[in-house]
Amino acid sequence: MKRLLYVFLLLALCFACKKADKPKKTGLITKNAMVVSARVEASKIGSDILKKGGNAFDAMASMQLALAVAYPYAGNLGGGGFMVYRKSDGEIGSLDFREKAPLAATRDMYLDENGDVLPEKSTLGAMAVGVPGSVAGIFAVHEKFGSLPMEDIIKPSINLAYRGVVVTQKQETRIKKYQPLFLKANKDSIIFSKSWKYGDTIKYPAFAKTLERLLQHGKDEFYKGETAKRLVKFLKENGGIITEEDLARYTVKWRTPTTFMYDDLKIISMPPPSSGGICLAQIMKMIEPYDLDKFGHNSVKAIQVITEAERRAYADRSFYLGDPDFVNIPSDTLISTLYLNDRMQTFSFEKATSSKDVSHGDVQVIESDETTHYSIIDQFGNAVSVTTTINGAYGSKLYCSELGFFLNNEMDDFSSKPGVPNMFGLIGGDANSILPEKRMLSAMTPTIVEKNGKLFMSVGTPGGSTIITSVMQTILNVHEFNMTMQEAVNAPRFHHQWLPDEIRMEPNLFERSLILQLEKLGYPINEKDSPVIGKVDGILVLDDEMLEGGADYRGDDTAVGF
Ligand code: DON
Repeated sequence: MKRLLYVFLLLALCFACKKADKPKKTGLITKNAMVVSARVEASKIGSDILKKGGNAFDAMASMQLALAVAYPYAGNLGGGGFMVYRKSDGEIGSLDFREKAPLAATRDMYLDENGDVLPEKSTLGAMAVGVPGSVAGIFAVHEKFGSLPMEDIIKPSINLAYRGVVVTQKQETRIKKYQPLFLKANKDSIIFSKSWKYGDTIKYPAFAKTLERLLQHGKDEFYKGETAKRLVKFLKENGGIITEEDLARYTVKWRTPTTFMYDDLKIISMPPPSSGGICLAQIMKMIEPYDLDKFGHNSVKAIQVITEAERRAYADRSFYLGDPDFVNIPSDTLISTLYLNDRMQTFSFEKATSSKDVSHGDVQVIESDETTHYSIIDQFGNAVSVTTTINGAYGSKLYCSELGFFLNNEMDDFSSKPGVPNMFGLIGGDANSILPEKRMLSAMTPTIVEKNGKLFMSVGTPGGSTIITSVMQTILNVHEFNMTMQEAVNAPRFHHQWLPDEIRMEPNLFERSLILQLEKLGYPINEKDSPVIGKVDGILVLDDEMLEGGADYRGDDTAVGF
């Protein structure tokens, strides 16, 4: 009998071990190089550039163009973005190719005579458009760090535009959803007015011609040449205010990234005019003293700590952050341990803090859907993390058929009126008011992580205000909860942004009992408004130096490498 019991115990032990050893779900694993982006066509073009001997910066330039062809929902020439990089020798930096307000922009340009915000003026059509930065960004990256000739960078996208791109199921749904707005924003029907079906091929000859002119004449083609003239004429005909002078004056900015430590990780992220780096630093440093791994992934306690840190960081965001070329930001204080520990003094596990009782912290200031992300690690060890956007889905919905691309509606990222939420529900203050040539505050958070001085991760996502918290959860999933890159990307996400005072959760992915417990503690839960939160694309350097890609299943995102 006793022997039987031993056998039984042994069997039970084996079974338990087997369960614990269950293989983890990983993304694509490669040895040398990897790119992850929103469309397989763009990832292939980036990977091919690397295979040809190009570096991560060549791949960045080529993928920004390829996404403009293959993913017009967010990929763009008519928008802007941010790049964070870490070279193989450890040098870090960031490029700001964010859009700017036109010279004729004014603080109250989106208000009526009663001072009320005019619906849709900052989101739909030509008045919503900021001066685009993407072309300047591509050329700046290539000029500083590129190694292949521009022809190698641009040609694949010209060919793709002529050859056409196959409509995916998700794309079919998206095009259909936005057709009423295309009709509203454009005088004539556009290429996307047709009823495209899954499996159809959309060709973009007008865009191919624009790219050919870029190849022939360089950056100035877009900012001073034929393309500039046609673009300004088109915007004017549609009631816009961008002039040739606006385009000619546009410049990118190389900026020093925001960096901070979290345990043994060094996080390198985007500084203002993105709020990404500073908010990420604030949230992560507020939660660092707590034992998240002991609380457990997406446990009540973990969600409470993260939510309360998010609440406080987003309150600071709305008061202090804006374009650093126009406003003074107390960055060092905002991310200092002393200040952040003090911010969390009012937190208790017993009961939710109310956002009504939280405003920005006291800092001595001396003076004053759609976006897309791609990550690249090349065979030389350089890492690039880029988030680029035209803001809303298909931007302002205004499509310049002659040039073949959508224009952004980034002006909505400014605060049209203090206290009135923008399309992401974000409340802005004076620091983010509209001024000529100012850059609108962003939440885009392209990020690179080092561990013990070595490259560890390249990560980022779209998602408007939820970008910062999605990037953070992905890093925590790997670091605190021991997930693979793909698991970290797949895991259900939640988000709090101070106002509205609620935790947004991806629907049906969180246990009912967990939601009930949070509600009991005073946390309103909203599962309706965000069917997905973020579309994270990341690359993780594994212990054996292999690369693991995490491509988000929430989109058509794909990792390609070799
Ligand atoms: O810069 C920003 O924060 C926004 N324009 C990003 C927009 C976005 O992520 C939309 N995607 N879902």
